[in-house]
Amino acid sequence: MKIGLLGGTGKEGRGLAARWASAGHQIVIGSRDPAKGDNAAAAAAEVVVVCVPYSGHAATLRELAPQLDGKIVIDLVVPLAPPQITRVFVPDGGAAALEAQRLLPGARVVGALHHVSSVHLADLAYPITGDVLVCGDDPAAKGIVIGLVGDLGMRGLDAGPLANAVALEAMTPVLLYLNKRYKRAGLGLRIAGLPDGDPERVPEPSPELVR
Ligand SMILES: NC(=O)c1ccc[n+]([C@@H]2O[C@H](COP(=O)([O-])OP(=O)(O)OC[C@H]3O[C@@H](n4cnc5c(N)ncnc54)[C@H](OP(=O)(O)O)[C@@H]3O)[C@@H](O)[C@H]2O)c1
Repeated sequence: MKIGLLGGTGKEGRGLAARWASAGHQIVIGSRDPAKGDNAAAAAAEVVVVCVPYSGHAATLRELAPQLDGKIVIDLVVPLAPPQITRVFVPDGGAAALEAQRLLPGARVVGALHHVSSVHLADLAYPITGDVLVCGDDPAAKGIVIGLVGDLGMRGLDAGPLANAVALEAMTPVLLYLNKRYKRAGLGLRIAGLPDGDPERVPEPSPELVR
């Protein structure tokens, strides 16, 4: 699949690009600087990932809105109010992904990857573990994104409608706090109670039911 990354020159975009390229996807790196990449060319891909800081989120999407019409747009942007990056900041529009959908009414916006730290992402020898919660209002687009998460070597889980992006985005400053509190880097999320592997797998019947 052809995947474009807006702001793909940054920490998160570079890591995602390296992992998806190694899984066989065609990557288009976007940048405001023509020497490093091209956001307009990235916006022409089949799936477009928004990898810019929240401060540049609305302006970037407004500028590229015509190219993004009809596209699957993965929004992983976490609204933060630096320097307080370990404190939840809820933007006026409720969530960056909801703001994106309002700015891009013709696009299929999916919120995902908020809890995938860039720390080990570009190191392909490092196995990234954890679950990726994926939310969106278009089931087909959400299914494609869950597949792309699998290509990163992680498990994507359907986390409901795009409105749930509020909770997903707000969890990242909590993870940043946990990194600091427990002196770790790049902590992620894992949902307890699901079997390993495919979450759609029908569980083994309990012995009581078999009897
Ligand atoms: N880093 C992580 O671990 C992580 C994890 C989950 C989610 N995220 C989210 O991913 C996004 C990118 O994070 P990052 O750490 O990769 O950020 P970053 O390295 O600071 O920036 C990413 C790229 O965005 C472009 N950019 C910077 N300011 C911009 C502006 N005002 N308008 C448009 N483009 C701008 C730059 O590319 P050009 O100069 O080439 O245009 C930059 O290389 C953020 O929204 C963050 O919340 C990050």
